Amino acid sequence: MKLIVANWKAYIATEKAARELAIVVSGAKIKKGSEVVLCPPFVFLSAVASIVNRKSSVKLGAQDVFWETQGAYTGEVTIEMLAKVGALFVIVGHSERRGYLGETDEMVNKKTQAALKAGLNVVLCVGEREREDQKSVPAIVAEQVQRGLAGVSSQLIKKVIIAYEPIWAIGTGIADTPDDALSAALYIRKTVTDMYGAKVVAGLKVLYGGSVNASNVASFVNQNGIDGVLVGKASTDKKEFLEILKKI
Ligand code: PGA
Repeated sequence: MKLIVANWKAYIATEKAARELAIVVSGAKIKKGSEVVLCPPFVFLSAVASIVNRKSSVKLGAQDVFWETQGAYTGEVTIEMLAKVGALFVIVGHSERRGYLGETDEMVNKKTQAALKAGLNVVLCVGEREREDQKSVPAIVAEQVQRGLAGVSSQLIKKVIIAYEPIWAIGTGIADTPDDALSAALYIRKTVTDMYGAKVVAGLKVLYGGSVNASNVASFVNQNGIDGVLVGKASTDKKEFLEILKKI
């Protein structure tokens, strides 16, 4: 029972390409109990929504969201808009948004809270910047998890998935080692246990993300404490993504 989040980022340029990719994934054989979440750019959400079936194992997600419900917020997309278009998941706090758009832990927390209150599943991304930071990984991820989840009730935490994404591994072709990814995932679990207790953490999904491809995906998902993967570039290549799905 694994979760595969496909973050299409800004790789897909046309609605035609978005539809084609969604059709291929929807037709793929997915292991019973596992789920795939397609996260297209906002402008293609509704096209993809018309292809993925809410009842099937392929679901719709968004790459970001704004925390206010409506108003004068140029360029932003609200939770209601996402929900109305059929999105069930939203990625929050991706390092590319933290890095290029200046998203702070406080903004990430507001987005997380608002999305959870509206009933969406939140994929909260955390991770260290440099590979050399290995020793500080526990402290860095603990802080991001604590700040991202501040004020989230033990009821709503059930809809949170945490993606461990070391920033140095994203889009570089250099994935983390399965052992280090597992250590970080276990540390994330410990942090959530400290915040919410062991019962909550039993149902928590922790994913790995960063240069996942068909050759390395099994080494991550075969680890007991890693519940799935967040795939960027490789999820936009039909052949490669189908190979990934075969290995889940
Ligand atoms: P990548 O991206 O698979 O292209 O490295 C992962 C991510 O950003 O979530």
